[in-house]
Amino acid sequence: MAGHVQLIEARIAQWCEALPPGDLYAPMAYLLRLPGKRVRPALVLMGCELFGGRAEDALDEALGIELFHNFTLMHDDIMDASPLRRGEPTVHVKWDANTAILSGDAMLVKAYQLMGKSPDVFRIFGRYALEVCEGQQLDMEFERRDEVHVEEYVAMIRRKTAVLLNSSLQIGATIGGANVQDRERLGSFGEHMGLAFQLRDDLLDAFGDPTKTGKQKGGDLRNGKKTFLLIRGLERAAEVRSSVLREELAKPSEERDVRRMIEAIDQLGVRAEAEAEIATHDRAAHLELDAIGLEDARKEPLRTLAERLLDRAH
Ligand code: IPE
Ligand code: IPE
Ligand code: MG
Ligand code: MG
Ligand code: MG
Repeated sequence: MAGHVQLIEARIAQWCEALPPGDLYAPMAYLLRLPGKRVRPALVLMGCELFGGRAEDALDEALGIELFHNFTLMHDDIMDASPLRRGEPTVHVKWDANTAILSGDAMLVKAYQLMGKSPDVFRIFGRYALEVCEGQQLDMEFERRDEVHVEEYVAMIRRKTAVLLNSSLQIGATIGGANVQDRERLGSFGEHMGLAFQLRDDLLDAFGDPTKTGKQKGGDLRNGKKTFLLIRGLERAAEVRSSVLREELAKPSEERDVRRMIEAIDQLGVRAEAEAEIATHDRAAHLELDAIGLEDARKEPLRTLAERLLDRAH
């Protein structure tokens, strides 16, 4: 992973330097230069190497995936009214919403320009990129709904987050020459990891250290986001007749006592439940990886990455 991230960072730095001046491009370089984990491009490179390809041969597509991811973040921060990203002001705060919308659009175009070498890669990218938008739409719709079931939540995070980890691996595998069956199995591994990754993200929003996550603490609860924590929290609260969460949700978002909500969620046992859910997806992910007909040693880098990601503090 460390070697992969180095390759990716060098490619990102080179790409940012070559951007024309002006406020269409400056926000792209700003966001990309902030410290991201580079998980998705690393998965592209690892998916390629797993099947015997060279990481260098998948670098354009890896960059394309990271551009797409950063486009989604630039727009997501407008949708979520988030003030901080990677420890710094978000693009719509540092510039304005219109600049963030257009710069994000242009970054999406730039991502597409890097994905066109292979028709198979282009097809996989297009299919899953659209699913991310579907997931984001559901995420916003659920904010306005009183009741959302856990199954609906899982279907939402599958689209908004998990499919991008899935497609990153499938794109790398395609470049590396995998057969369709192995490619799809690797994709399923990524998708289970992605579900666990978003559950961890939800947990970090409430229980993480904001100096590490680089995001505002409790932003999801303030927005009434139907995360796993809030959905299960409301269900558990109804069972034990606790009214804390409902009381806070009845207030306008800026008046919510987010700390009180976080405490209630912890006391209702939902934090532990989310951890158990992460472990379940982790196991499912590894079963998919086991089923790929390659020697175990080749799969080690992906196992190590999965372990680090699901246990992360940022
Ligand atoms: C944030 O993604 C958005 C989610 C899908 C949870 P990351 O946690 O990968 O963010 P960076 O790229 O490392 O900043
Ligand atoms: C992000 O989900 C998913 C996408 C950007 C597609 P979140 O809204 O939970 O991500 P963060 O917490 O802002 O990084
Ligand atoms: Mg969001
Ligand atoms: Mg967000
Ligand atoms: Mg989040």
